[in-house]
Amino acid sequence: MSTDAGSTRTTGAEPTDLKFAYWVPNVSGGLVVSDIEQRTDWGYAYNRDLARTAEANGFEYALSQVRYAASYGAAQQHESTSFSLALLLATERLKVIAAVHPGLWHPGVLAKFIITADHLSGGRAAVNVVSGWLKQEFTNFGEPWLDHDERYRRTAEFIQVLRGLWTEQDFELLGDFYRIHDFTLQPPPVDVPGRPHPEIFFGGNSTAARATAGRHADWYFSNGKDYDGFTEQHQEVSAHAAATGRDVRFGLNGFMIVRDSEKEAREVLREIVAKAHKPAVEGFRDAVTQAGKATRDGKGMWADSTFEDLIQYNDGFRTQLIGTPEQVAERMVEYKKRGVDLFLLGYLHFQEEIEQFGSAVLPLVREIEAEEARVA
Ligand SMILES: Cc1cc2nc3c(=O)[nH]c(=O)nc-3n(C[C@H](O)[C@H](O)[C@H](O)COP(=O)(O)O)c2cc1C
Repeated sequence: MSTDAGSTRTTGAEPTDLKFAYWVPNVSGGLVVSDIEQRTDWGYAYNRDLARTAEANGFEYALSQVRYAASYGAAQQHESTSFSLALLLATERLKVIAAVHPGLWHPGVLAKFIITADHLSGGRAAVNVVSGWLKQEFTNFGEPWLDHDERYRRTAEFIQVLRGLWTEQDFELLGDFYRIHDFTLQPPPVDVPGRPHPEIFFGGNSTAARATAGRHADWYFSNGKDYDGFTEQHQEVSAHAAATGRDVRFGLNGFMIVRDSEKEAREVLREIVAKAHKPAVEGFRDAVTQAGKATRDGKGMWADSTFEDLIQYNDGFRTQLIGTPEQVAERMVEYKKRGVDLFLLGYLHFQEEIEQFGSAVLPLVREIEAEEARVA
């Protein structure tokens, strides 16, 4: 594909157009826990080339995962903040979001790290604050594993520290988890029009997560959901945001399988499920009971996931981005009507399917968006 076509697609977007992010495959094993062939690689050279391909094919963001220990397929892992910085340095426009855990980072140290990454990249650094599910990552490091809702209280303070240190001088915070006294970070983040500080994404699905995201995050990431499941979260998080006079934007996870016919695409999903690595999927199911399921109302990520859902860590099949380019593009715009601002996408064969997205799906999405805007 020509670079010109790619950059037109990237920069030609209207401010209200859907945005796209991809999961950086910085842990081994791919995005599905299955023995189906996955043409991907967790190493740097592959990821550097992938990031460049992604920014030439309409992707505005990349999301690096955080995992410190092997778990259910992720036998090898590259650390998220350093890997994100490497990708920022290898690209020109891509914004790279590093996933981070409160409890394992001091927010002041992270705030400083991200400002440096922001300066090295011309204002393209971002974070995804995640509250964790893999208990051993904390306890084996000798850190306490807080009760579910306490983790989110800590996350709320963590975000307040990040935002405070990124926007204020002589910042003070006397919290239950963090204490910051008279602190000014110099330099401040890069001055990017319309962006007061590096963007703060947030991943979590439980009742506590929704309240925390609504009150504190810039972006809420939803696990894979059907239309109604997404709408329910959108309404709840938006209500929390409105109650505090804020605006939150929404990203939705989806595992994309685009083939020439719907039948072929469905056959790929069938093969993923047929070749699922059962012991790993079952082990994952046990581990994630630490998430929303552990709360009083039992709501949250993975709380009602089926075996098939869990083969993709983030319920990505539920979004049903599976079919022909036309079907998938139409479905994406339907989600947009329900409040999705950004799709977070995963693939079996990242490099080739990201190129396919840019050439076959994205132009259709833009056409449908333009048509919708015309008739509105
Ligand atoms: C889009 C997205 C990305 C996530 N990325 C990570 C990650 O990289 N590492 C991690 O440990 N957890 C990650 N999580 C999981 C969260 O840490 C958390 O355990 C999960 O969202 C459960 O939330 P709940 O208890 O609020 O339902 C992610 C969640 C979402 C929605």
